[in-house]
Amino acid sequence: MRNPIIVALDVPTAEAALKLVEQLTPVAGGFKVGSELFTSAGPDIVRRIRGLGAPVFLDLKFHDIPNTVAKAVAAAVKLDVQMLTVHASGGVEMLKAAERVAQESAWQLGHAPPLVLGVTILTSLDTTALSQIGLDPNVIRQVRRLANMANQAGLRGLVCSPREVAELRQMLPASTQLVIPGIRAHTAPADDQKRTLSAREALALGANWLVIGRPICAAEDPRAAAERILKEIAE
Ligand code: C5P
Repeated sequence: MRNPIIVALDVPTAEAALKLVEQLTPVAGGFKVGSELFTSAGPDIVRRIRGLGAPVFLDLKFHDIPNTVAKAVAAAVKLDVQMLTVHASGGVEMLKAAERVAQESAWQLGHAPPLVLGVTILTSLDTTALSQIGLDPNVIRQVRRLANMANQAGLRGLVCSPREVAELRQMLPASTQLVIPGIRAHTAPADDQKRTLSAREALALGANWLVIGRPICAAEDPRAAAERILKEIAE
């Protein structure tokens, strides 16, 4: 079985990120580069991680007019990332453009196309925040709606919270890849995650990939922490 753990490199510098990548490459399925690291270290950090042979998930949550998102996706394909995120609320035309360009530019470069993941509703938004924005205040209904739309636009994967994984698994085609953050062992601190699942529970509910940050990166021995999670999954 492939390793489903994607380590979130939520660190401010290239040096800190590369140190973790070197330690963790043998025990991780890939590394997530988010806004903090990308903004401080630039696209070169992605090239360097790819240079070490590890898969990269570029989590910049693109949300713009279709033409701009398509160009950003093409640039991400040039960096040879394996996954990237777009906001599903950018609309069906934006999602279609992202998926089409991911496929076209990957074939032109001879890469496998990256998985374009739709982000539905950020877990930081609650009922009040949704109605302030003018969206359906029922979080799960809004998530379902965006997930359906992303699926119809041709996206092959979604990021979803532990709260939503079971329902989305039932609703979407079996081939849809679900990527889940908020993973914690029952004995570990939840940090600022409001609802968590263990790695095993998330996989049992139908997750394909687990995004794990602090439980690995902030551990005294990150490699041992990742190995513990792998062992839990294999049991
Ligand atoms: O440290 P922790 O395991 O909580 O990190 C989870 C990662 O997943 C972070 O990079 C965070 O930004 C991301 N994420 C999340 N919740 C979401 C979407 C993304 O925690 N709903």
